[in-house]
Amino acid sequence: MITTRQLQDEIIRLKKENDICILAHAYQSHDILEVADYTGDSYGLSKQAAKAPQKNVLMCGVRFMAETVKILAPEKTVYLSNSGAGCPMAEQLDVELLSSLKENNPDYTVVAYINTTSKLKTICDVCVTSSSAVKIVKNIDNDKILFIPDCNLGAWVKDQVPEKTFKFVHGGCPTHLRMSTMNVMQAKMAHPDAKLLVHPECLPEVSKEADYIGSTTGIMAYAKESSDKEFIIGTENSILQHLQYECPDKKFYPLSKDCVCHNMKLTTLMDVYNCVRGAGGEEITLDEDTRLKAKACIDTMLTLGE
Ligand code: 13P
Ligand code: SF4
Repeated sequence: MITTRQLQDEIIRLKKENDICILAHAYQSHDILEVADYTGDSYGLSKQAAKAPQKNVLMCGVRFMAETVKILAPEKTVYLSNSGAGCPMAEQLDVELLSSLKENNPDYTVVAYINTTSKLKTICDVCVTSSSAVKIVKNIDNDKILFIPDCNLGAWVKDQVPEKTFKFVHGGCPTHLRMSTMNVMQAKMAHPDAKLLVHPECLPEVSKEADYIGSTTGIMAYAKESSDKEFIIGTENSILQHLQYECPDKKFYPLSKDCVCHNMKLTTLMDVYNCVRGAGGEEITLDEDTRLKAKACIDTMLTLGE
């Protein structure tokens, strides 16, 4: 039987041999992060997409992330490591519903969380990620913002940009919605000295209790740089594992044992191995019209986010 270490060595050999760049979102398991060329949050991965010198990109994450790479780097062959890995939030709004919302709100700028399908992006004005949303919304030359589809991320942005008017559509991340104020109370009672770090996809009443709110990369950077020794982590639980490797002297506790994204967890190291040897994954294809229209709002994100 092949071991994890042997599998990782083979992946590293094969990705070089086959000119493949492996991008891995921070919600992937640690054995996958170790073989990746770049790991990070959604914003970091988007910026990395076009920069990779390799002609092939393997995205270990969910479908919209692989689509983002294809949108920004059409000349590359892009693969999603496990074709079943989607983001349920990305499917919450379709083109028909958003079109009618736009008709009813013609003077609003449509700000779409990057966790949306490419089709939906074709009728949005600008994309945002958790680490770039506040800056981008501040930089938009309009005071009226229609924020889709994550109301919780939207509410967090609204708090920091009170000078603008926001409209939201019902939506959110099913993984982060599992965390409640009851979890906060229990975790704080069990670990009174720990700092609470949460993702802005959490419910506002959960975020309100936090010492820090930020993207996956933001949470990891805060915990690494802090002089505190204990942290309650309110985001997908793989972040705890990565932090334990990075900071063996600090202690990390999950805000909820249920904060597991089953889509992110679909990809295994064996999937990655199969992809780099040409026996797995799904090649991402987009029609040129969709790609170009979706690219406009991602380009705007990258411009307003810098
Ligand atoms: P970030 O890595 O941008 O914080 O995104 C979190 C997420 O839920 C991605 O699906
Ligand atoms: Fe989608 Fe939430 Fe999973 Fe991220 S954590 S991929 S937003 S379901």
